[in-house]
Amino acid sequence: MVDDAQRACPVMRPAVQETYGPADLSAHSIFAGGFINFGYWHGIDLSQPLGQEERIRSQEDLYRHVLGSVGPLKDLGVLEVGCGLGMGCALALREYDPEQVVGMDIHPQQVRRARDAHAEVLRREPERLRFAQGAAEHMPFASGEFDVLVSVEAAQHFPDLTAFAAETARVVRPGGRVVVASFFTVDDAGDRTSQLAGLLDTFANGLDIARPVTALTETFEAAGLTAVRAESIGRYVWPGWDLWLSRQWAEGTWPRNFLRAYEQRILDYYLIVAERPAKGERVGNEGE
Ligand SMILES: C[S@@+](CC[C@H](N)C(=O)[O-])C[C@H]1O[C@@H](n2cnc3c(N)ncnc32)[C@H](O)[C@@H]1O
Repeated sequence: MVDDAQRACPVMRPAVQETYGPADLSAHSIFAGGFINFGYWHGIDLSQPLGQEERIRSQEDLYRHVLGSVGPLKDLGVLEVGCGLGMGCALALREYDPEQVVGMDIHPQQVRRARDAHAEVLRREPERLRFAQGAAEHMPFASGEFDVLVSVEAAQHFPDLTAFAAETARVVRPGGRVVVASFFTVDDAGDRTSQLAGLLDTFANGLDIARPVTALTETFEAAGLTAVRAESIGRYVWPGWDLWLSRQWAEGTWPRNFLRAYEQRILDYYLIVAERPAKGERVGNEGE
């Protein structure tokens, strides 16, 4: 097992600190309902005018797609890594009937916002919902504490995927499952980092990190996770996201380049699933 001393506690990167600090990105009108994700627009009529209702539904549907991809959650313990305001944790609790959901975020202000937003549930069902501050690369949980680990639109910020994979393989119990939704480059062609920095301010300022999706799938496998699969869900993310953006961002402005980066086969949105082998099968960093 990797002990605490071996898992160095990472420092929050400045762009993450700023974006999710006093500015409260969730309050920006391109997001809604306390969520901070691009949305999953499958099943939403994009030929009709979009409003707040559709925007919130798109973000909820991203969670539904993610949570639905790991099988039944009833009576299980679920960890969300990079939970933001915890809206997805609350949705999981309402709709999937797990035993407990723990939302973890690196930013103390996000954890505070999550606790405020869900004060009533936290008071009513303290054993079922909890929020904790912690980094994807250094999670404040015991080995094997969770049945399922999910992460929605946060892994693009994680500076060290190897540490995230090792922690994932550690905190999920043997036989447990993992699902991550985030955006990655489609391959590791040499100029992807500069291409994306040229197209998108969030890559230029260091908030988002350009890495191929294989950087995550390979580190998951190296950490001992099995049945690792990455599936593109970009066709259900980027066109809807761009249409929503078009309400306030003109053609040619940088946020509209997410769709361009997808169409140019540079960037895509992925769902990555994995499993921790059941007892008896060895995991990379266990038992060392
Ligand atoms: C785009 S928001 C997504 C929030 C939420 N999952 C949602 O869909 O509404 C990304 C979140 O990841 C958190 N985050 C960034 N880097 C992190 C890290 N290394 N470990 C844990 N959380 C991190 C940020 O503070 C932020 O709350």
